[in-house]
Order: sequence, then C-alpha cells, then structure tokens
Amino acid sequence: MISGKAKVCGIMACPVEHSLSPMMHNFYAGQMGIDFAYVPFKVEEDQVETAVKGAYALNLEGLNVTVPHKQRVIPYLKELDRTADAIGAVNTLVRVDGGYKGYNTDGPGLFRAMNEAGMKISGQDCLLLGAGGAAKAAAYVLGSQEAGSVIVLNRNEKRAWELAREMNERFKREFMSAMALADYEKLPSGPRLAVQTTSVGMYPHKDQVLIEDREFYRNIHSAVDVIYTPFKTRFMTLVEEAGGRAINGLDMLIYQGIEAFELWNQGQKVPKHVIHEARQMMIKELMR
Ligand code: ATR
Repeated sequence: MISGKAKVCGIMACPVEHSLSPMMHNFYAGQMGIDFAYVPFKVEEDQVETAVKGAYALNLEGLNVTVPHKQRVIPYLKELDRTADAIGAVNTLVRVDGGYKGYNTDGPGLFRAMNEAGMKISGQDCLLLGAGGAAKAAAYVLGSQEAGSVIVLNRNEKRAWELAREMNERFKREFMSAMALADYEKLPSGPRLAVQTTSVGMYPHKDQVLIEDREFYRNIHSAVDVIYTPFKTRFMTLVEEAGGRAINGLDMLIYQGIEAFELWNQGQKVPKHVIHEARQMMIKELMR
C-alpha cells in the first residue's frame, strides 16, 4: 500500500521503457513493508535541469539517473559524494536541504557483486577492458580495493592512458598502465582478474567479443562482464572454456540498485532472501 506519506523516487532516463529499476525498487519496498514508490520518468537530454528542479519541487526523495544523463546532471546538484566525484558520473540523487546530493552506486555495486562472487581484488593483477564511463567506475573500484596492478586495454590507447594516469594520480601510486587492444599478445603472462566494461557483445550482437583468440583467455582466472543481455556473453564463454570463472553484470545492476535503495531508506538493509528473490524475478524478466 502506498499512503499519502510515501517516499517517492524514480528513474530519469531516455529511453526509460526497458528499465528494470522500477520492478526492483517496488519489490524491495513491498517485501520490506516500506511506504515507498518508484516510477519511470522519460527525460530528454535538454530537460535535465528542469527535471531535477521539478523533482525537488515535487518533493521526490531521490532519483536514479542513467544513460545519457550521468554526467549532464552534475552541474544541477547541491552536493557531490567523493566516489561520484572520482568516477565523474552520478547515477543516484538523494534529497538534501535545498537540492540533491549526487552519488555513484555503480562502483559500489560492482564491488559488492565481485565480493559476493568471492572475487578478491586486493593485491591482484587485473585487466580492465575498455576505457569509457563504465571502465572508470571499475577502475575506481580496483584502485580503492588495492588491486596489485591494472592494465587498461582499449581500442583507443590514448584514452586508456588518460584513465590510467588519472587513477594513478588519485590513488597516489603507479598501479595502472595502458595498452592498445591490438597489442594484447604483448601482455605480460601470469594470472589475472579481468573486468570487461565495453558494450561489445551486448544484445543483439551476442556473437561479438573484443578478443576472440583463445590464448588470451588462458591467463584469466576470474572475470566480470558488465553486460547482462545476453545472460552469458561470448567473453564469458571464452573465459570459462579456458578454465576461468565468469559472472555477468546482473549482480552489479542489482547491487547498484540496493545501494541506492539503502541511501533513500536510511537504516534499512535489504535482506539476502529478498535480494535472491529479486534476482530470480529479474532473470525471468530478462529471459522473456
Ligand atoms: P560507457 O560509458 O558505456 O563505458 P563509452 O564511454 O562510449 O561507454 O565507452 C565505450 C567503451 O567501449 C570504450 O572503451 C570503447 O573503446 P574506444 O575508447 O576505443 O572507443 C569501447 N568500444 C566500443 N565499441 C568498440 C568496438 N567495436 N571495439 C573495441 N572497443 C569498443
């Protein structure tokens, strides 16, 4: 039941129709008996400022912000959380006095997903595939969890070096370096944890993968692909066929949502069995 006192949140995106967030958040609220509603808002790119002001005027408790608004929303915020500042993107707005504070729960979501899967980051040699927005969130997680070393592998090498330098500066240690994707055969050998952050292999291009060469996968002991459609990407299949473990991006999506839900509902923790049921529900939805 949603009463007149309900906290209202929503997602601001364009397009917004395919978002699984309304389903997730309303499920948590329902299961936990919280007076809360979460709705989709389609917001065009030139309406971001008006939408943020309108949300505040309408007394919304918070918003999720997604592609293509994650950077665009920043100038209209009252405050910016440290992680969001470091990642340079905001996906969660939380109401504060006079406006919204911007957070990034994609990084923490990725960390929780890896942690739940038993993928240890601290001291590990890592490989980061891609150097865009999703890569930056992942790079921040690897840096803050004290990865031993990270090599950013990207089609555009300059962009990869920019990301590596920025993170070395932020964490004040030279743990990150870069290489052109085309030079992957020159990678130093040794076991690695890999995070695939590009959109290559995403539905409907499910047979595509950044690197097809099976040799490349022999050094990857565990991997995360941020993609969750298809449920198993070509990248994951290649990792598994070479003997490694791979998870998709569904848990990252789930945990970024949980982190946001817990920011809006301070003091509440979504119970494990509710998370498990939400995952089953989302898998069903994705398989439709
Ligand atoms: P996002 O914010 O989702 O990460 P992005 O900032 O556009 O999106 O970044 C996309 C990433 O996927 C980049 O690393 C991009 O490589 P470039 O920097 O070289 O463009 C990578 N990418 C996208 N399509 C690719 C392709 N066909 N082959 C190789 N890399 C690709």
